[in-house]
Amino acid sequence: MTWLVTGGAGYIGAHVVRALIADGHEVAVLDDLSTGFKERVPDGVPLIMGTVLDPAALARAFGDHEVSGVVHLAGKKKVGESVAEPLYYFHENVEGLRVLLAAMGGHGVRSLVFSSSAAAYGMPDVEFVTEDTPCAPLSPYGLTKLVGEQMIAAAAVAQPLSYVNIRYFNVAGSASPELADRGAANLIPLIFERVDAGLPPRIFGDDYPTPDGTGIRDYIHVADLAEAHTAAARRLIADPQTALTVNAGRGVGVSVREIIQTVGSVIGEPGLTGAVEARRPGDPARSVASADRIREELGWTARRDVREMVESAWAGWRR
Ligand code: WQD
Repeated sequence: MTWLVTGGAGYIGAHVVRALIADGHEVAVLDDLSTGFKERVPDGVPLIMGTVLDPAALARAFGDHEVSGVVHLAGKKKVGESVAEPLYYFHENVEGLRVLLAAMGGHGVRSLVFSSSAAAYGMPDVEFVTEDTPCAPLSPYGLTKLVGEQMIAAAAVAQPLSYVNIRYFNVAGSASPELADRGAANLIPLIFERVDAGLPPRIFGDDYPTPDGTGIRDYIHVADLAEAHTAAARRLIADPQTALTVNAGRGVGVSVREIIQTVGSVIGEPGLTGAVEARRPGDPARSVASADRIREELGWTARRDVREMVESAWAGWRR
């Protein structure tokens, strides 16, 4: 049996592909290379170049590779872009998933791991976000993830389908330099970009009700996150009745100032400090996962700390 990884040439997808292989699974990749890179697909792993929006590409993938499960990561993930182009996000993320589910139904593919996001929660006013914390997404991006989860649950009533939705918290780092995130859309690469420009990293607000006043997030190493997907895949193989939604985080809150400090220490600028600017609209003060359910249900716990995330991200950035 083969797992089809959609978006397998992307940053997170490339890590998931390697984790699945390391766990002994057969893997094929479907990717339209819109943001992915061919070089990230390991030798020997079939790459179907196409989009999940194209039933013919899906039919090819399912027909040629004895696919019995899908790990669906293909999609758009820029929060700001989703505000400017909401309908594009609904097309890519929601319609893309609908076409995928229809094709899975048509080809008898019954297992799905879905890449969801902490963005589904919006601005949770709790110390630890559990999967039962009410979802109130603040961006079209977060909404497409929540709608995706709901569509999967509805489809699972009408077609044989077991699933694990994984809500990612703040993903960082890389397993090796060539697999690093190549964009600078999140805090850690944005700090690197500023350092390279000889400018202080920007701190979006230091007047939050947090110990040092800056925003707190739950950063998770992408290699740990990838292993959460293999744990989900194993569960789906063992129990075809699975219908699960889990957070993927460490359950540890880290502030913007703490991240800047770690970056300073890793890059040999121990005095590195940020320049405080206005809050960024829509940013919660704190977003930290409860990691209990994923541990209990999938036996998965993150192993890598923030320093490993920053060191590996820096190695990738330098490359
Ligand atoms: C982290 C913290 C900022 C840049 C988003 C999405 C989420 C997921 C990950 C997609 C916040 C602060 C940032 C900077 C700063 N996306 N910050 N200076 O917003 O928590 O999450 O990305 O899959 O769904 O919402 O991540 O890395 O942008 O910010 O002070 O230059 O760093 O305010 O507190 P965020 P982020």
